[in-house]
Amino acid sequence: MYICVWGPADVQRCVNCNMYHHTSGLFKPAVGKTFILTLAIGILFGFSFAYILMATTRSLEEFSFFPARTENSFLDRHHHSDREYIQGPDIREMGSHGHDEFYHRGEDVEAKKLAKKVRVLCWIMTNPKNHAKKAVHVKATWGPRCNILLFMSSENDTSLPSVKLPVLEGRDYLWSKTKEAFLYVYKHHLHEADWFYKADDDTYAIVENLRYMLSPYNTSDPMYFGCRFKPYVKQGYMSGGAGYVLSREALKRFIERAVPDKTKCRQDHGGAEDVEMGKCLENVGVKAMDTRDALGRGRFFPFVPEHHLIPNHIDPNFWYWKFIYYPSELGMGCCSDTAISFHYVSPSQMHVLEYLIYHLRPYGISHNVEALHSPVLPTKPTAGGVSYTAEANATGISAKEKKTEEAKAKPSQAKDSPPKSAS
Ligand SMILES: *[C@@H]1O[C@H](CO)[C@@H](O)[C@H](O)[C@H]1NC(C)=O
Ligand SMILES: *[C@@H]1O[C@H](CO)[C@@H](O)[C@H](O)[C@H]1NC(C)=O
Ligand SMILES: *[C@@H]1O[C@H](CO)[C@@H](O)[C@H](O)[C@H]1NC(C)=O
Repeated sequence: MYICVWGPADVQRCVNCNMYHHTSGLFKPAVGKTFILTLAIGILFGFSFAYILMATTRSLEEFSFFPARTENSFLDRHHHSDREYIQGPDIREMGSHGHDEFYHRGEDVEAKKLAKKVRVLCWIMTNPKNHAKKAVHVKATWGPRCNILLFMSSENDTSLPSVKLPVLEGRDYLWSKTKEAFLYVYKHHLHEADWFYKADDDTYAIVENLRYMLSPYNTSDPMYFGCRFKPYVKQGYMSGGAGYVLSREALKRFIERAVPDKTKCRQDHGGAEDVEMGKCLENVGVKAMDTRDALGRGRFFPFVPEHHLIPNHIDPNFWYWKFIYYPSELGMGCCSDTAISFHYVSPSQMHVLEYLIYHLRPYGISHNVEALHSPVLPTKPTAGGVSYTAEANATGISAKEKKTEEAKAKPSQAKDSPPKSAS
């Protein structure tokens, strides 16, 4: 039997278990003539059976046993089948659902106030093939809630519109595209926003919750936020798919000090965009922040809600569990009530989330919103300290209860506690 073993070096796809693994010590063959014969027959039978089964349930072009293995294959961090996209709806047929209807009138007063104080620029990584297929659905759903919304592509599409960056398209060029995109943002919008959020065209984000999470922080401090992963970078790095958000100081350091310096930043186009970003930012003193809420629940997610909410939906051996920086509860405890983003969201799912989050309301249930008064909030929040207080109050738990909750939620290892200070 082939046994998949995690090694320290590069990640590759392990065919027999349909997952990505580190290469070193990948295969441990146990030999023997009968064994090989049995194995061959077993594999042949198994694959044939699975092939017939899958062929009957979906179209053949949609899957392959051996997806192309590229240098950057570890970018595709989820099961192949989960990356299929059914065609999204025709935007013109979606209709509208007013925000001024009875149930919604006046509900966004605090959110509107916050949008003026915590200005978020969102830039969406897309490409010409996806403009009409995916990017339009971001534009039709969550995108416009950002103070500034930019689609980064290699073509200027005036209908979207998209920014034409001087880059080649393809997975192998995502890193150069990320650098170019942030350079464009730095040149044209540095002072028009306080925070700079990168997301994919299959990311769904709840922008109000992003602003809420960022509200106690000072954008003059070098820091960035997202779904924190452990490997490759000392302080960890933020998953690209869930999106990550840079402070203005982080963006400045990235463009002014990291990108031009080959000792700090990878200079060519290759590599995994999010890992390279994590290395560059660490090298210029940008802190990777803890984005969990006061109850220790996550806010940025690399998969769709179902995969996080349903226990064991993500295989216990899947790379995800080895990558996540903070332990995560299975089931409902996984996800914060102020969650910010989900990834691998199909165009249709975007409209479903839009309806569930912004329109559907259980009659007679309202939720508490504390007024955020920035003068009261600390400029340099200490993790687990004052910055969480506003939120603990909002959830209706006392500071004492909150401490217990946090102690429960957070492991005792020091390396897993969030950075002490944002400076
Ligand atoms: C796209 O092209 C139009 C006309 O050619 C130009 O006016 C506009 O500035 C361009 N937009 C971007 C984002 O490059
Ligand atoms: C943010 O930090 C900068 C520099 O550390 C400081 O000058 C500024 O007053 C701070 N802003 C707020 C709102 O506290
Ligand atoms: C939270 O509540 C405590 C007492 O219950 C109060 O002292 C504190 O000022 C409140 N904090 C915020 C930010 O509302």
